[in-house]
Amino acid sequence: MPLGITIVLIAAWARLTLGADVATEIANTTPGNTKVALEDYLESHRRQFAAHLDDYNNRIDALHKLFEKNLETIEIQKQLLLDRIRQAEERLFPLELLNEQSKKCVSKYRNDMPNSARTQDDISECLDVAKYQLRVIGTEPRELLKTLNNYYANNFEKSISNCLAEVNTPYTCIEEQIFNANEFTVDHNLKFDEQMDNSEHYARAHIKAALNCSFVIDFQAVMAIAEIKLNIDLCMKSNDNYCMCKQGHTCNNLQRVPLSDLNSENITITNSLYGTSNTCLLLTASSEKGDMTSTESPPKS
Ligand SMILES: *[C@@H]1O[C@H](CO)[C@@H](O)[C@H](O)[C@H]1NC(C)=O
Ligand SMILES: *[C@@H]1O[C@H](CO)[C@@H](O)[C@H](O)[C@H]1NC(C)=O
Repeated sequence: MPLGITIVLIAAWARLTLGADVATEIANTTPGNTKVALEDYLESHRRQFAAHLDDYNNRIDALHKLFEKNLETIEIQKQLLLDRIRQAEERLFPLELLNEQSKKCVSKYRNDMPNSARTQDDISECLDVAKYQLRVIGTEPRELLKTLNNYYANNFEKSISNCLAEVNTPYTCIEEQIFNANEFTVDHNLKFDEQMDNSEHYARAHIKAALNCSFVIDFQAVMAIAEIKLNIDLCMKSNDNYCMCKQGHTCNNLQRVPLSDLNSENITITNSLYGTSNTCLLLTASSEKGDMTSTESPPKS
């Protein structure tokens, strides 16, 4: 991994340059100053370690934020959909008051309206499932972060204390501990990257599932609303209360077309009601008394 290599190089470079500085410092200074230089040297490494930990923490936090943002989008979508359902429901009230026909049409299709409470629950469930699965996001990288923190705070510091207790040559001893700590860091950095990749992959899959889950509900609800509107419009346009040549109903402007008028050679027949609105065309099958089929002709205005 390129990042791992970079860190090895930086670690090696830091070791060489700082090592050289300290070696010269030790050669050129009194014992009291040597101690100060060593402390500076150690401090620079401690700062590096702390920077690593910060970086890891930030990356885990960023991962969490990314997925929280995605779930927030679903939450916003849910609110928009609920608004849309409410608006569609509100549009039905004036229609119901318009006339008997529209009232009949509305009541015929009203039950097809997506239920607000159920829609809310369904989308909330998409979110809950995602949140449940995403609760483990970053667990592994955080564990690793803890291990690393523990190593720097305990193992490393203890070894350094031991080195400093060796009054003769603490430098060699400290160098060795820093080398070990860098090895430990690089090794864990590779693992951390891998775990972050896995976490991200896992989270993306669940976010995608949650987005799809809410999208399906959204899509179905919007389609249902559009269909209800269309059905009510058609129902109201059909005005099927004026031209029902059924039992108990009569048509105004009725033109009876006997079978004999129908000619297989001619696609048209005379329409004596042309220009009249609310026209019914009555086709008789075999006799005037037989079963009748009604066909509407579009109202002419
Ligand atoms: C989205 O959800 C629907 C319904 O649950 C499912 O049939 C479909 O396969 C899902 N699509 C993807 C890409 O997950
Ligand atoms: C077809 O019917 C129309 C209307 O009755 C009539 O004017 C026309 O002459 C007829 N054409 C033929 C080929 O019978």
